Amino acid sequence: MNEASSRRRFLSTVVLLGAGSTASDALAAAPKAESKSKPAEVNATEDLMREHGVIRRTLLVYEEIARRMGTPEEKAPVEVLTQATRLMRRFGEDYHEKTEETEVFPRLVKAGQQKELVQVLLEQHAAGRKLTASILAATSGHDALTQPQPRAAVVRQLAQFIRMYRPHAAREDTVLFPAFRKLFDEKQFKELGERFEEQEHRLLGSDGFENALKEVAQLERTLGIHDLARFTPSER
Ligand SMILES: [Fe+2]
Ligand SMILES: [Fe+2]
Repeated sequence: MNEASSRRRFLSTVVLLGAGSTASDALAAAPKAESKSKPAEVNATEDLMREHGVIRRTLLVYEEIARRMGTPEEKAPVEVLTQATRLMRRFGEDYHEKTEETEVFPRLVKAGQQKELVQVLLEQHAAGRKLTASILAATSGHDALTQPQPRAAVVRQLAQFIRMYRPHAAREDTVLFPAFRKLFDEKQFKELGERFEEQEHRLLGSDGFENALKEVAQLERTLGIHDLARFTPSER
């Protein structure tokens, strides 16, 4: 086929796809999942990134709590704050960060990669744990957060935590995890994913991720921030 006829053929294909194709054509072209076969496994970095999703939703809960607590006439939602902070500790710090510290960071450092970034990330894990401990301490006691001073201190700590964790997780998603993934070939990476999965079950129980997700969704509902559509700006 000469260049002109191959170009004509290409253009007619484009026109055909543009004019006549439908969503069902696109679906027909997609690989068919065998009804018997298992769905594709979650890989190791996808696993860490969806954990960031739960953490980000917890940050959203933190943000709403801080907003309410910053308004003196609003009652401090102490119960929701306690639950959210405990979730951050159990899921974010004792599980997710621990996985990074034992499985991800050491491998990169050993390979001579991302050393400075790893150092900052480790310092941020430690700073976050301090904030979590301090917030949890402030929520205990029956008259917790009724006084302006401790209330303002918790609002500040929540803001510090959110401010740190958003860029922290974003840097891991876009720089650290892609570098980590490149250390493995397909087979090794698949095995690592399976190991992560086993570890999750061992540390959090068989539905560890799903339960954490349910828990954060419940906290969103309690605060009335669960409806995603409400985050869409309305046209004025
Ligand atoms: Fe981290
Ligand atoms: Fe992380």
